[in-house]
Amino acid sequence: MAKAGDAKQIGDTTRRIDGHRKVTGEARYPSDMPVANPAYAWLVTSAIAKGRITRIDDTDSRQVEGLLDVLTHQNMAGKVHMPKDAKAGKDTSTTVVPLDSAKVWNDGQIVAMVLAETLESARDAAQRLVVEYAPDSPSASFDDQGVSLQPASEASKEHADPGVGDAQAAFAQAPITVEATYFTPTQHHNPIELFTTTCFWEDDQLTVYEPSQFVYGLKSHLAGQLGIDPEQVHVVSRFIGGAFGSKGTITPRTALVALAAQRLKRPVKLVVTRDQGFTVATYRAETRQTVKLGADKDGKLQALIHEGWEVTSRPDNYMVSGTATTSRMYACPNVATKVGLVHADRNTPGFMRSPPELPYMFGLESAMDELAVKLGMDPVELRLVNDTKAEPIKGLPYSSRSLRECYQQAAASFGWSKRTAKPGSMRDGDWLIGWGCASSCYPSHIAPAVARVTLYADGKARVQTATHEIGTGVYTVVAITAADRLGLAVEDIKVEIGDSSLPPAPVAGGSNSTASVCNAVAKACEEIARRLAAAAVGASDSPFHGHDPNGIALVPGGLRSADGAQEDLQKVLARINGAIEVVGENVPDGLQAEALAGLYQGKNAMTGGTSSKDSVRYAFGAVFVETRVHQLTREVRCSRAVGAFAAGTIVNPLTARSQLMGGMIWGVSAALHEATEIDRRAARYVNDNLADYLIPVNADIGTVEVILVPEKDDKVNPLSIKGIGELGDVGTNAAIANAVYHATGIRIRDLPVRIEKLL
Ligand code: MOS
Repeated sequence: MAKAGDAKQIGDTTRRIDGHRKVTGEARYPSDMPVANPAYAWLVTSAIAKGRITRIDDTDSRQVEGLLDVLTHQNMAGKVHMPKDAKAGKDTSTTVVPLDSAKVWNDGQIVAMVLAETLESARDAAQRLVVEYAPDSPSASFDDQGVSLQPASEASKEHADPGVGDAQAAFAQAPITVEATYFTPTQHHNPIELFTTTCFWEDDQLTVYEPSQFVYGLKSHLAGQLGIDPEQVHVVSRFIGGAFGSKGTITPRTALVALAAQRLKRPVKLVVTRDQGFTVATYRAETRQTVKLGADKDGKLQALIHEGWEVTSRPDNYMVSGTATTSRMYACPNVATKVGLVHADRNTPGFMRSPPELPYMFGLESAMDELAVKLGMDPVELRLVNDTKAEPIKGLPYSSRSLRECYQQAAASFGWSKRTAKPGSMRDGDWLIGWGCASSCYPSHIAPAVARVTLYADGKARVQTATHEIGTGVYTVVAITAADRLGLAVEDIKVEIGDSSLPPAPVAGGSNSTASVCNAVAKACEEIARRLAAAAVGASDSPFHGHDPNGIALVPGGLRSADGAQEDLQKVLARINGAIEVVGENVPDGLQAEALAGLYQGKNAMTGGTSSKDSVRYAFGAVFVETRVHQLTREVRCSRAVGAFAAGTIVNPLTARSQLMGGMIWGVSAALHEATEIDRRAARYVNDNLADYLIPVNADIGTVEVILVPEKDDKVNPLSIKGIGELGDVGTNAAIANAVYHATGIRIRDLPVRIEKLL
């Protein structure tokens, strides 16, 4: 039994409760789940990006001992259904139906699934499969012949190009202007855990072990694709080895594995290879953006024009359209934005950590730095003179906005006041030192969520909710919230998540999980406290008999009232049969109860960001970096980074710091390392492995300091939680490019910054 003072509170630093299980290998990731007598699947993917399959010959594959089956469009067409209203990025990663026809939409599309007794024999047989094609000439990306252009507003009813005033006229009249075009490259999530799926049937019940950021979504959409009742599908995904958006929507592999298990009448296991993962799931598409800023001589923005183009696939209209954010970032009376899609012969892109903000804030925050240079103004000062408490498009207030405090605290810690403005003016031997900064922001989302909490007489509790541990520390924030509200120690809370038979929780995307789930957990716990208090008030043997139940709180050890009366938890619980179980449902402000019904059916309904009626809801940050560019070799290092972030209540500062630090490191990666290289003639990813796809290692990262700026925001949700999973990697890419300019006088507008661009 926890004693008074033992309880960990919301905001106390708490080590991960699942840490031991993870580092000892006891945590079972989906592909670790044992199944009896599995068959192994191996994918064969297309060798062309556009055209048709003309012949498939499996004669040689059939020579392999242990071969069980070869699935191709010839025996699978019509077996997987794609609901008519399925949307890429919402329900599914792509609307291309797997193994449905001879048509090839993109390089690396699944063209066969080979099944065998062992992994080795499946691979061998897959490599022997002969697939012949009639290829067409593909269009890979921007400017390639054959791409088709489409305004985002035509592609999606939900897309608006936000604007206000007359930006073109204001830009033409502004005394100081900058205009530039920026490029952000293709990136792939590359979580260390590969895309895996294990399926087995017991009668008409299907069990799926698959790393998923949305087990209720996977359950519903898989059932839809198989034409069965969602209640026939059980998804288990207790630990996820990284996802970053890539495991949020159902990919084509899952239905195939389920159908294979049905055909073979035994469990089937698939582990997609690293290179195949580049094309059978999603990625961050390349963007090209033009930013025009016009300002007064004192730096006040008069015009902001942001136009973005994004690559997407032929059949789908997936887009991130980050102008919803950039149009509202600063005070500016005249704003115009436009987003356009470039349909190419590529797999459909999808969300990847900070989907809209990472690329679009690069454009805006680079342009802001260029404007500061032109004005001869400190770039921090420029952000502060354009800071605002209301967004300019509709004039809605920010529910809270601590951008100024973030800049002040990060600048102080970084030592920004010692900066000399002239490019190349700061040196350390052969190294040119550049100091740069940029703003970060991310919409504060919340979705409906349900949690079941059971409190037992031994002072332990169990929390069940189908949320997801993608590495962020969700087990721990759930335990902290329950401990805080039940007056228990974190160790006394058992957390069960990642299973579609538990009460539903939303997709682990858009940085909403902590806000959504913790508010539902808190509600359940508060209801438990209320019922215990009511039972005590009604009991003649209780010191609270006849008290006002509203004055009684559940605290460490039991119930207590302001006048000092208390009763042991054991006694209180004995009165109500020794345990109490409550289901807490949270429907966020501004959403209807239908949103909760939708959640049970695997539909997401998030609010926050720009979708709330009375305010815009964002978390903010400021990132400062020091880069060192060698004056002869032009090697670039990021030696130091300081980020200050304000995101309402920080439930667990330990894991929050880790999220934000990881985000900033990914920002360094986005600036200096990462890009998926595309062979433009073949529309094929070239560096589709972790040897050639550059990511930073320890030696690439200097010191990283994270400052948590206190903030309270009662509008976003009762617990005042703003998500932080994606906040940390916004802004760092621009801060680095800005620092490289400060070091060298060379403005890099196309990421990543690489040596050859600085020669
Ligand atoms: Mo995150 S990209 O919203 O899964």
